[in-house]
Amino acid sequence: MDRGAPAAAGHAAEVTRTRGNNHARHPGTTGEEARRGPPGRRRTPHRGAAQEGQAHRARAPELLLDEGTFEEWDMFVEHRCTDFGMENSKVPGDGVVTGYGMINGRLVFVFSQDFTVFGGALSEAHAEKICKVMDQAMKVGAPVIGLNDSGGARIQEGVASLGGYADVFQRNVMASGVVPQISMIMGPCAGGAVYSPAMTDFIFMVKDSSYMFVTGPEVVKTVTHEEVTAEELGGAGTHTSKSGVADLAFDNDVEALIMLRRLYNYLPLNNREKPPVRPSNDPADRMDFSLDTLIPDNANKPYDMKELITKTVDDGDFFELQPDYAKNIVIGFARMEGQSVGIVANNPLVLAGCLDIKSSIKAARFVRFCDAFNIPVITFVDVPGFMPGTSQEYGGIIKHGAKLLYAYAECTVPKVTVITRKAYGGAYDVMSSKHLRGDVNFAWPNAEIAVMGAKGAVEIIFREDKGDPAKLAAREAEYKARFANPFVAGARGFIDDVILPHETRKRICRSLVMLRDKKLENPWRKHGNIPL
Ligand code: HXC
Repeated sequence: MDRGAPAAAGHAAEVTRTRGNNHARHPGTTGEEARRGPPGRRRTPHRGAAQEGQAHRARAPELLLDEGTFEEWDMFVEHRCTDFGMENSKVPGDGVVTGYGMINGRLVFVFSQDFTVFGGALSEAHAEKICKVMDQAMKVGAPVIGLNDSGGARIQEGVASLGGYADVFQRNVMASGVVPQISMIMGPCAGGAVYSPAMTDFIFMVKDSSYMFVTGPEVVKTVTHEEVTAEELGGAGTHTSKSGVADLAFDNDVEALIMLRRLYNYLPLNNREKPPVRPSNDPADRMDFSLDTLIPDNANKPYDMKELITKTVDDGDFFELQPDYAKNIVIGFARMEGQSVGIVANNPLVLAGCLDIKSSIKAARFVRFCDAFNIPVITFVDVPGFMPGTSQEYGGIIKHGAKLLYAYAECTVPKVTVITRKAYGGAYDVMSSKHLRGDVNFAWPNAEIAVMGAKGAVEIIFREDKGDPAKLAAREAEYKARFANPFVAGARGFIDDVILPHETRKRICRSLVMLRDKKLENPWRKHGNIPL
């Protein structure tokens, strides 16, 4: 059962014990000094981070984990730097709390950086602590969650800290696709503190108090003479709407941690496990007759694909990722008969649901995550094609669109596809078509599966009729009658069945049951060469 957040209030005492006692136990450090860190290393709230937020951050592992389950490691570790007076600035734990615990009774490894200690900067010893939990997570097959709040490599340590980061990066890569890795950005993060999260599977941010940049605003000003605030450069708004680096942004630390627990509940512990099943009272054969009128009569009118998603999945519960980035495609997790599924859906409300560079990359990465972790993919298709235009072509839509094609084609988990309306051109092929080993491909009765829309098609193949609108209209009607339906594809077996919208949930649930023990393997190779 998803218990959401642990009882936060009950954690205060435990947190005090964990941090206060650890530090007090360390020889030569008073409890108070240890709690506060050495002089001059206090975080000032000038970045708009509320004091309250800092308090949450300091006890983030306890808020994230089930009450009383956190086992802390390496609380006595200190840095070994002797340059720049550092020998007099040692803090037990060296700015990162590491260990393991449970989320809703399931194992997870955690590290949490402490900005009050050298800006959370990563020393060689700090890196060793992170590497230790990552190594253990790989050995036992459990996810790693990083709560990041760090100015990057610890400048006083020079190459030793760079080496430390590289050791973390290497583990990020080795763990990719083996255990889920999730990053929560809880303060200003720079340098290595953004590259490591970038290689993890999901990134959450906190609005107005977390930032991600390779170099901060001051360096930007020096090098490029651009004046930009931290918020504009790398705030949660920027990364969830402009860059697409982060998946979700939350109002405060506690909300972010609670949502992280929710995300965790959809994921298997590792790539050999099936995702967890959460029993649901939502009947698998529940019909939703309102779906029969979801599609407007006018094929050019948009409708909200998220309505179809929420009306199809268990209890209307859809955990959307990247809702503010590349909105022309929708991705996220849900459950069908309790089983985690990944949802990918074109969204006709934005750019008519066309595939463009950003949406292709967004969906491709998600499909690959699902494939790596045995999560079936359900694809809802209403796509008029790839976005035309110079900005797309110059930006490399050919290469980036191919990412999604590649991701679906290599994907071996159960794939169920429902074409609700348009499936035109290359985008038809791409969106989990039968040809890309779609297991079950449905279409709604008004689906149009064709190379392109009727108007565009007749303008090309009947160019000689251009000056004769009546003739063109007749050609268009003829083309529509011939191709604007699912039956031509059905006749070839490219569509397994034409289903009524209200039975969508039932048909998908049945398909997933049928596919539960699906086995499909790609040929052995070192790795493929996805068009990056
Ligand atoms: C040591 C650091 C530090 C660092 C911050 N601090 N970053 N100490 N190494 N990397 C210390 C500050 O000196 C300060 O100490 C305290 O942390 C708080 O920092 P402030 O600057 O006062 O905080 P704020 O204004 O919030 O700015 C946060 C920040 C900024 C944006 C992160 O500190 C910053 O730009 N730091 C440097 C970032 C950076 O260039 N890192 C190296 C990246 S290279 P006092 O004593 O004053 O409280 C890297 C290599 C990896 O990471 C390889 C990548 C591929």
